[in-house]
Amino acid sequence: MQALPGFRDFLPEDCARRNYIFSRWREVARRYGFVEWEGPLLEPTDLYKKKSGEEIVDQLFNFTDKGEREVALRPELTPTLARLVAAHEREFKKPLKWFSIGQFFRYEKQQRGRLREHFQLNCDVIGETDLAADIELIALCIDVLRAFGFTEKDFVVRVSDREFWTDFLGEKGVPSDRWDELLTVIDKSGREPREKTAAKLGTLANSVFAILSSSGKSEKLDKLVDGLRGRGLADFVAVDVEIVRGLAYYTGIVFEVFDRARKLRAIAGGGRYDNLIGQLSDGAVSMPALGFAMGDVVLGELIDQTPQAREKIKKAITTAGKIDIYIVIAKEERRADALKQIQQLRDHGYSIDYSLVREKVGRQFQAAEETSAVLALLYGDEWPQIKMKNLATREESLINHDTLLDSVKKFFNAARST
Ligand code: HAM
Repeated sequence: MQALPGFRDFLPEDCARRNYIFSRWREVARRYGFVEWEGPLLEPTDLYKKKSGEEIVDQLFNFTDKGEREVALRPELTPTLARLVAAHEREFKKPLKWFSIGQFFRYEKQQRGRLREHFQLNCDVIGETDLAADIELIALCIDVLRAFGFTEKDFVVRVSDREFWTDFLGEKGVPSDRWDELLTVIDKSGREPREKTAAKLGTLANSVFAILSSSGKSEKLDKLVDGLRGRGLADFVAVDVEIVRGLAYYTGIVFEVFDRARKLRAIAGGGRYDNLIGQLSDGAVSMPALGFAMGDVVLGELIDQTPQAREKIKKAITTAGKIDIYIVIAKEERRADALKQIQQLRDHGYSIDYSLVREKVGRQFQAAEETSAVLALLYGDEWPQIKMKNLATREESLINHDTLLDSVKKFFNAARST
């Protein structure tokens, strides 16, 4: 039996990598004053049909549940957030700055960088129209990536503005009910043959191609880049109006993050969705909003191909995998005494490992090395004393079993201060 296509098994090493990614995500989101929240994994299919757009609806993992409800595993978090905010709007002071880390499911064709499940960090700001919020959000996205060791040489945030395009379509006299369809064509233009895009754009083709080749410009985008320049982050961004985003609910500034070498799929994407909360609540609550999501799959690929990021994750995983103490039971008669003290040490927060059954002393020391334990405690002929061995320096000393906790605390305090 194998895992389903596009689903991953997480062996301990993979879990360690995932924990590392989640820790950096959480750490930087908190640094920006964002608070954590979570929604359900299963939602009514209608939540996505209403506003996510055709692409997402085609990719839904959906079914009819035993109560005859049409349900879907969540492909993204934004509709859930909009639903939740509309329902609890009065309970919170605006703007809300919320983040979430969770798993998402899309029935996509499995390919490099795209699976049928993935994890995302979502960061959203609700209740603020000012461009300052867009700048803050993009700065957060950049800083999240910097926390993995990436620099402006490794990734770029391509920023754009949907309003730039809707203004253009308005000026050209295109009726607004065709805008979504044309925005999708522009969004796909970089990935499709030029003739195909031209055919879909009709009479607009030449002007659209002219704009795309000059990469576009607007006062709002200039201000956005200036805001990031003020924080020393301008080198991480590039204005590029080819970015329109596949999801239907975006209304203003949009952005996507790519590796500089342009070998990988998007690492993150987001933007403003000022109408979604109003639309999902049928006009009951209307609130401006913006956010982005970063996926773990492409991020993992970029880590693997960026030397300094690879070094950083390796080091962090090795440190996180270390246990504090390995207990070596040299005399089986001492097992009960050792277990009593193992319990006491664990109660005080030390991570401890030991052999569950009788084992040769040499094998136990070998296991201590394998777990990267810092300290070994040996229960044997020395009892009522215990032999304490610093596994890094090989130094040994004898301590009294009834003052063990103090000795261990002293050891780790000294180890931490060096
Ligand atoms: P999205 O661009 O669909 O945006 O997804 C965000 C990121 O999730 C992508 O850049 C990619 O790294 C990752 N991702 C998406 N699909 C897959 C997949 N099948 N396999 C692996 N990784 C994937 C959203 O989901 C929006 N809801 C983001 C947002 C939040 N907008 C406002 N707030």
